[in-house]
This record gives sequence, structure tokens and C-alpha cells, in this order.
Amino acid sequence: MREDTGRAQVEDTPELEAYYRELEAHEAGALWSVANDIEPWFPQPTSVPVLWRYRDMRPLIMRAAELVTPEKASRRVVMLVNPGRRDVSACVGSLYTGIQIMLPGEAASAHRHTSSALRFVMEGEGAYTVVDGEKLRIHARDLVLTPNWTWHDHGNEGTTGPCIWQDGLDIPLINALEANFYEVNPDRFQTPTRPVDASYLAYGGGGLRPTWDDANRPYSPLWKYPWEPTYEALQRAALEHDGTPWDGVLLEYVNPRTGGPIMPTMGASIQLLRPGVHTQAHRHTGNVVYQVAQGRGFSIIGGQRFDWEEKDILVVPTWTLHEHANGSTTEDAVLFSFNDLPTMKALAVYREEAYVENGGHQLLARTVELAGVLP
Ligand SMILES: [Fe+2]
Ligand SMILES: [Fe+2]
Repeated sequence: MREDTGRAQVEDTPELEAYYRELEAHEAGALWSVANDIEPWFPQPTSVPVLWRYRDMRPLIMRAAELVTPEKASRRVVMLVNPGRRDVSACVGSLYTGIQIMLPGEAASAHRHTSSALRFVMEGEGAYTVVDGEKLRIHARDLVLTPNWTWHDHGNEGTTGPCIWQDGLDIPLINALEANFYEVNPDRFQTPTRPVDASYLAYGGGGLRPTWDDANRPYSPLWKYPWEPTYEALQRAALEHDGTPWDGVLLEYVNPRTGGPIMPTMGASIQLLRPGVHTQAHRHTGNVVYQVAQGRGFSIIGGQRFDWEEKDILVVPTWTLHEHANGSTTEDAVLFSFNDLPTMKALAVYREEAYVENGGHQLLARTVELAGVLP
């Protein structure tokens, strides 16, 4: 065997094994015994691609509403857990997601934490969130932010049925950094101190920025991105451009003061797949959680096909090939997603690679197996 591969290849001997035990006894170790694992050639996600069908999850979420109260649970949420990341309650990589339900008249008390949160509303009328004294009315497909260390409580003032939304947080990341703090508001519920939807009143004008706000927050000053203007913007952008071969027409939700991501650790996007579109595959560092905002279709993730419809949630682990297809030749499909790309970019570890073989489309794992490419 060549001795200069540049990677560790020391073979165990009784003498070395005894030496390793001696090192262990001194809280030390031989780097060469783990080097190839802790510094892999390329990212080795422990997360796997998963799709959670809303039609399967909704009855389970309704059961949670029968079994526990928001008072007892603090937040009544069914979390979505990746089989490869159960130990840290992540849905993919270092991202957490869950589905929260509030029945008419219910409210969840105020708290804050170092983890940043966002929510994308799935169904229901009458929900609100209060973020640092600002009451935000929220409707289906609105994106709402509760950034790092902002007080937040929420409830359902409606009378017609449950309000259900998807929560997305960076909990596993902040825990990996061992930087999580948590505080309960002594007042239980915040008394709003600003007009309803204040941040949207000030910053909802797209390319227009209020001149009087000089607060330099490390996150977006806009806390609600309502669906209608978002969808309109997506349709307008689609008149101008086809987007990219890998993402279609993809718009990023941004901090209107900086044009940067909505929060330091997490970004979010809305993506239009035109009728009949099937994007080419690519992969990148960073994990992505999708919720189908509209339409039906399928994604191929790591050679596996996942068919989706409205409100289904699916995840793409880091450095895993993915491509998306609109299943309709007449209707748009729209994917909401959130991700940890701002973290990857801030830490200068973002990389992206297009898949160039086979016209940019992955062979399905089964097909690959049949072709004898895989053992
Ligand atoms: Fe929270
Ligand atoms: Fe992507």
C-alpha cells in the first residue's frame, strides 16, 4: 500500500492499542485514529430525505389538541423528526420544525429564547402573534418572524376552527453552539405597545424604506411577509425571467434594510415552478425545509422520488442532490422553504455544484440499482 495518500492509514497493533488506552486515560487521543471521520472528503449528512404528508399529519395534530392544553404544553406542537437526527430533535441538519395548533379562543403565553423562529401558516383564520409588543394578524401562507430573543406569544381569536402553522427554528444549531437561553415573560401575555402589524405598515412597501427608523437590529425589522404581495411579486418576477435551471423562479425573503437574509442563522424563499417544469439537479452545503404552498408535483432527493401536494413538508439534507418537478401542465406549483444558508455563508462554508450527467437529472435509486451501478 502507498504510504503517501495524505490520509490516515495506521493499522492497529497490540502496542498501538495499548498506547491509545494510555492516551485515553490522560484525556487525550491519536488524531490519526479518527482523522478520516472528523475531516471527511465532503459533507456526510446524518439526516436523510423525508416527506411528511399533511393528510397523514393533520389527524395526529388534531389529536394533540384533544390530549394537551397550550397552558400545560407551553407550545402544543407535533415536531417533525429526522430519523438520523433524533438525538438533537432536528428535522434536517441543525434545523428544527414542528406543526403547531391553536383552537379558537386559545392562547400560548409569552417567552423568548436565543433560538430564532419563523412560522409559515398552513390553515385557519383568526391567528395572531405578538412579537416584542407588536401584534401581527396572520393568515394562510403568511411568513412571520420571531427573531432571536424577541418576546412572543400567540393565539387564535377566530371562531371557525383551528389555526395550524409550521414553526421553523435553529434550535439544534444554537444548542450545538451551546448558546441557548430561555426566559418566560412575567406578564404571561404581552400588552401590544405598537399599532397592529406595525412593522408591515412601516416596511411593507417593498423598495421603500422608512427614514426615521435607525434601529440597527441584527435581523429583519419586518416581521410579517403576507402571502398576497409575495405571490404577486413571484408572478411579476416570472414575467421577467425564467429563474435558474436548478431552482426555477426563486425569490428570497429579505431584510428590507440590508437586502440580506431575514435572520442571521436562517433564510427563507418562495419558489415558482411553472406548469410542466422539471428543474435540473444540484447540491449545496446547507439544509432546506420545504412546505408546498400551492400545487402538486414531486422532488427527487438523493435519488429518491417524493410526490407532494399542498401543505406537505419535505427536507433536503446538506450536499444532497435535489430537483423539483411541477406535476401539472396547466397550474403553477409554489414551494415555500427555509434554510440555514445564511449560517453557511457567514461561516464561509457555502458551496454549490450542478449535476451535469444525464441531462442534469438523477437516476432514481431503484433504476440505478437495476442498472447494476449500486451493489
Ligand atoms: Fe418560542
Ligand atoms: Fe437547492
